[in-house]
Amino acid sequence: MISPQVSNIAIMLLMMQASRRIDMENEQNIMYIRAAYIISIVSTYLVYQFVKRRIVATNDTTTITVTQPKNPMKPQETPVTEVMSVRDYDLREVDAAIKSIWSGVAMMAFMHLYMKYTNPLFMQCINPIKGALEHNETKIHLFGHKAEGELKRPFKAAPGLLEGLMGGASASQPAAAAAAAPVAEPASATATGASARIEELD
Ligand SMILES: *[C@@H]1O[C@H](CO)[C@@H](O)[C@H](O)[C@H]1NC(C)=O
Repeated sequence: MISPQVSNIAIMLLMMQASRRIDMENEQNIMYIRAAYIISIVSTYLVYQFVKRRIVATNDTTTITVTQPKNPMKPQETPVTEVMSVRDYDLREVDAAIKSIWSGVAMMAFMHLYMKYTNPLFMQCINPIKGALEHNETKIHLFGHKAEGELKRPFKAAPGLLEGLMGGASASQPAAAAAAAPVAEPASATATGASARIEELD
C-alpha cells in the first residue's frame, strides 16, 4: 500500500499534466469541471454522512481518554485530556473532516468565482473524495476494518509539518529566534552604513 501522501502527489502531477491539455477558457470545459467538482464534493459529504450514521448505529459507548495535541505555538501549555465515548470521538473526527470540506469549498469558490481560475477547481476534483475514502473513520465504519493497531482510537496525531521538519517545535523555536537575531544586526548595520555613505556622497 502506498501512503496517501505519496498517492496525493502522484495524482497532483497527473492532474497537472492533464490540465495543460485542457482549454480552461472554453465555456463547456468550465461547465464539465464545475460539475465534476460538485459531484466530488457532494459524494464526499455523503460518504461522511453515511459514516456518521454508522457511528450512531454502532453506538460504541466504551470510554477513551483523548489528549489534545499540543499547540506548537504554545509549547508550555499543559495538554488537555478529555474522557469521552468512542462514539463521540468518532463523530467529532468526522465533523472535523466535514468542516474541512467547507473550508476547501470556500477557498475554491473564491479562486474560481472571484479570481476566475478554473485550474484549482480541476486539481481539487479527486482529493476530497479520496480523503473521505481513506479517512480512518471510513475505514472502520464503511470498510469494516478492525479498530486496532493504526486504527486504534484515539488516533495518533500526524506530525505537524513544521515539527516534522524541525524535529520538535519546543526545542527549535528559541534556537531559531537566536539564530535569526545576530543575522538581523549586521544587516541593519550595513544598511545604516550604506545610507551614511550615501549621505556623504551628497
Ligand atoms: C488515522 O490514524 C493514523 C494512525 O493512528 C494517524 O496517523 C492519522 O493521523 C489518522 N488520520 C486522521 C485523518 O485522523
